[in-house]
Amino acid sequence: MRERDTIRSERIYRQYLGFFDKAEQERRWNPYRDVPWDRVERGGSEELATVAETFCAVESYLPDYVSKGLNLVRQSFGQAWFSANWAYEESKHTVVLIEYLMRSGRRTPEQVFDLQERLRRVEWMLPFDTARRMTIYGCLQEMATFVIYMRQAERAKREGDEVLHGIFRLIGRDEMAHTHFYGDVVKVLLEEDRAETLDDIAHVFSHFQMPGVGIVPEYDARIEIMRKAGIDRALFLQKICFPVLKYLGVTRSELRFTRAAQGSE
Ligand SMILES: [Fe+2]
Ligand SMILES: [Fe+2]
Repeated sequence: MRERDTIRSERIYRQYLGFFDKAEQERRWNPYRDVPWDRVERGGSEELATVAETFCAVESYLPDYVSKGLNLVRQSFGQAWFSANWAYEESKHTVVLIEYLMRSGRRTPEQVFDLQERLRRVEWMLPFDTARRMTIYGCLQEMATFVIYMRQAERAKREGDEVLHGIFRLIGRDEMAHTHFYGDVVKVLLEEDRAETLDDIAHVFSHFQMPGVGIVPEYDARIEIMRKAGIDRALFLQKICFPVLKYLGVTRSELRFTRAAQGSE
């Protein structure tokens, strides 16, 4: 009988192939050609510019996310390949937001590159140290990012910025696809060892933080602006946690009985 790790690795690789093929067929987009830059608004609100810049800042830690994340899953063939493709998709998010900030005249090239320099001074660290916890974190984080992009997309639309609305929607579609891939891997892990995986889900949910906390300059002031169309605790549970649990096929009562939820890890 083959090793459990090899079987899992093959299953996840096949999931990756499905993800990749679907992405190639339905989701590829180009930051230069698929955004109607000739219609970009100049002179919109500073708050909206800060929203776009804050997303851009969080996305800009990509080199840290990739190097550390990839290293943690390198034993899992499919997840490692996913990380490489994920990095390509995420890199477009930074590129399109930088283009928006400069083409809309909201930020000068000097301001954009100065912020990038400041971002490079602090390193993002892995919030969890096992592949399983980071996979669960990936699922929750991508879902949170999707919901936040969608809420800010509505705000951009209300303020009449159609181009930014379209950009946030393009990015959001990628974030949802990432949520599903991570979720599909978590489902395999649940099948393999439900009790331990549930325990990790409870642990990650109770220690969850967005990746920009503490490393993006002026984070608190930025979040204050984001929050005007943002999410509070109740919405976090309703729009992010509960849909993720539903996708994973996990009930809230199952989580309540884990060691992590009962504080005896
Ligand atoms: Fe992204
Ligand atoms: Fe993503």
